Amino acid sequence: MPGQNVELIHISHAFKEVTAVEDLTLTVDRKCFFSFLGPSGCGKTTLLRIIAGFIRPTRGKVLIGGKDMAGMPPNLRPTAMIFQNLALFPLMSVWENVAFAFEVRGMTKKNRRMRAEELLDRVALPDVADKSPQELSGGQRQRVAIARALAVEPEVLLLDEPLSALDLKLRQKMITELRDIQRQTEVTFIYITHDQGEALAMSDQIAVMTEGKVQQIGTPEEIYNKPRTAFVATFVGENNRIQGRITRIDHDRGEISTSLGNLTGKLGSTDINIGEDVLLFVRPERCTLNSQKEIDNSITGQIVQLDFAGPTRICNLNVKGELFKVVYPEGQHHFKTGDQADLSFHSRDALILPQGKAVHD
Ligand SMILES: Nc1ncnc2c1ncn2[C@@H]1O[C@H](COP(=O)(O)OP(=O)(O)OP(=O)(O)O)[C@@H](O)[C@H]1O
Ligand SMILES: [Mg+2]
Repeated sequence: MPGQNVELIHISHAFKEVTAVEDLTLTVDRKCFFSFLGPSGCGKTTLLRIIAGFIRPTRGKVLIGGKDMAGMPPNLRPTAMIFQNLALFPLMSVWENVAFAFEVRGMTKKNRRMRAEELLDRVALPDVADKSPQELSGGQRQRVAIARALAVEPEVLLLDEPLSALDLKLRQKMITELRDIQRQTEVTFIYITHDQGEALAMSDQIAVMTEGKVQQIGTPEEIYNKPRTAFVATFVGENNRIQGRITRIDHDRGEISTSLGNLTGKLGSTDINIGEDVLLFVRPERCTLNSQKEIDNSITGQIVQLDFAGPTRICNLNVKGELFKVVYPEGQHHFKTGDQADLSFHSRDALILPQGKAVHD
């Protein structure tokens, strides 16, 4: 059944004087992998606990499948939650952990075991039913927790940073697996993370949050390629940033005057006017060094750092006191630190946005 599954309507929540979530309204579609991405303390866990029913919001409504959840306790909601610090029952075997919910429903032991094995199969853990949770790796334990949450047949699975305790390799593997589990089960996933790589790789839709508010909702491509605020432009991926003032506007392009001369870019908002102070963003992979071709924006700087990153090299360039990052394929250039280089970028690859709070301001 397509359509919306979870609707959040003007949700606010305050813990005494701390406003954790502020007037948040959005819709999560059925069968969607939806992520909330934001820095620590921006209100992600609070929001998830409101959806699950562990916290009653100070204001606003949660609808699931069109039904108002007000007054509905967590165990009666069509949701299951995997907590930030997950805990399996250490004295029960893996299958008993998974089958925990069935016991309450009065299923026979044989049936409980059968259902548990089906669920373990679904999370790609076929041979661990009789092991104890301590005998499993972190990633395997994470999958048992997912199987246990799926056992209650939720319409919506709420996941609070489930991969944060895993090492990089395992995390990468679990990113693919989680995405597969979501596609196969067709359960709506609401996933919370402060890791932009996870959110970009797994999600159908991402809501970028800061200070209790949603800054932008979009597909991973929209969030990365068309950030609408300075915060999104700097929180998701790397971005070079230059301050300037708008001197000319021509359709969707603008020219800005900066301490490095005049630069041009695409206008990232219709709300930008001549004379306004703005920021211009350009991604490191959209910059080129010593290009043979004519490119509309070109400035000269000095190389201050060159970092080897396997298939690519990351170059830091100092242009009149402003630092720029440029990424290029390893072997494309043979610079040394101290060399002069021309940095250029197309105006179509640069984005002009209103000034606003960026990360690290
Ligand atoms: N029980 C509580 N009592 C008082 N303040 C709280 C409580 N829980 C959270 N807060 C505050 O609310 C804000 C949002 O917290 P929340 O746990 O939702 O953030 P988060 O985005 O999940 O962060 P993290 O990524 O670190 O888990 C923070 O300022 C936090 O200090
Ligand atoms: Mg949290």
